[in-house]
Amino acid sequence: MKAVYFEAHGGLDVLRYGDVPDPSPAAGEVVIRVEAAGLNHNDIWARQGLPRIAIPLPHISGSDAAGVVVEVGPGVVYPRVGDEVVAYPIQSCRTCSRCLSGEELFCRDMQVWGFQTGPLIGSFAQYARVQAAQCLPKPAHLTWSEAAVTSSAMLTVWRMLVTRTQTKPGEHVLIFGASGGTGTAAIQLTKALGAVAIAVASSERKAELCEALGADHVIRSDLHDVAREARRITQRKGVDVVFDHVGATTWQIGIDALSWGGRLVICGATEGFDAKVDLRHLWNKQLSLLGSHAGTHREWVQAMRLVNERALRPALTEVIGLQDLPDAQHRMATRRTLGKIAVDMVGR
Ligand SMILES: NC(=O)c1ccc[n+]([C@@H]2O[C@H](COP(=O)([O-])OP(=O)(O)OC[C@H]3O[C@@H](n4cnc5c(N)ncnc54)[C@H](OP(=O)(O)O)[C@@H]3O)[C@@H](O)[C@H]2O)c1
Ligand SMILES: [Zn+2]
Repeated sequence: MKAVYFEAHGGLDVLRYGDVPDPSPAAGEVVIRVEAAGLNHNDIWARQGLPRIAIPLPHISGSDAAGVVVEVGPGVVYPRVGDEVVAYPIQSCRTCSRCLSGEELFCRDMQVWGFQTGPLIGSFAQYARVQAAQCLPKPAHLTWSEAAVTSSAMLTVWRMLVTRTQTKPGEHVLIFGASGGTGTAAIQLTKALGAVAIAVASSERKAELCEALGADHVIRSDLHDVAREARRITQRKGVDVVFDHVGATTWQIGIDALSWGGRLVICGATEGFDAKVDLRHLWNKQLSLLGSHAGTHREWVQAMRLVNERALRPALTEVIGLQDLPDAQHRMATRRTLGKIAVDMVGR
């Protein structure tokens, strides 16, 4: 089958488009004919390599897929051959006490599919091998490309805004990197929860997308005035929730923007991991600083319910061919993409 893969970590030049062996399913697994795959910033980290995270080589990235089941391994009840499915990216043993109590993120075998898995496992290929439990029916009203970019983003923001910060109707949510894949999903979920979305975007084009997605306020900013603007919007109270995945450059601004008793949730650090906390602010303002990573199967099902009810819809802005992947990763790494990007595997 055709795939985009790499055999060593590095720049865009390590990405190869070519033939790799077809996958076949082990017990509890299925093989999907990938109709469309979704891009995530994580694909870039996998290609570059990260300290203390093992990424098996050769590696096929891609943690989101939509397609048709073509082969089923022993012991699989759902899905069946011919089913149209979307996949979410969490693999775990599905048998330990953590998994059985719905806490598979704390399973010792938990891995993000298409990121930590391999060799040669991910969605940037004509066929992909997944655990059966990674599949749900494809929402009928979405195109293949829309379906393919839904799971990771919606799952991540669901855990951040519902499970971790427990965002309430009427609360103010400050969303950094709001025009990106995770950020656009955060705007939509904030609105679906009845809260007020304050989006931060670094260009006019990005600000327009945030507005189109329903952001109540857009701070069009290079960051220095974000905390002041957030206090102005909230009549000096500060925001109840900060949604962050940018890291080093936004961390302190987010803390400054929080109200007393506010919660900050973070799932990534695109701009770097180095962050300081003034402990006096932490206790005086009684802040909650929360980490969040991916999401559970239950959280994915809950998010997909809102997708099926049309309260959430992925912000698909581009559909590319498999061979265009290096260019798209380059634009994503240099902050020139918007929303979600899908690879149309049928056109290849
Ligand atoms: N732990 C998890 O479960 C999880 C899940 C999803 C994503 N993540 C992490 O969260 C981050 C965002 O992922 P994503 O898929 O939403 O990425 P994305 O689609 O590329 O969006 C990233 C956004 O961040 C902003 N940004 C600020 N500094 C940036 C920089 N130096 N390079 C690129 N963008 C920058 C950009 O908006 P502006 O230009 O407006 O600032 C951009 O829209 C990544 O680090 C990713 O690995 C973690
Ligand atoms: Zn387990």
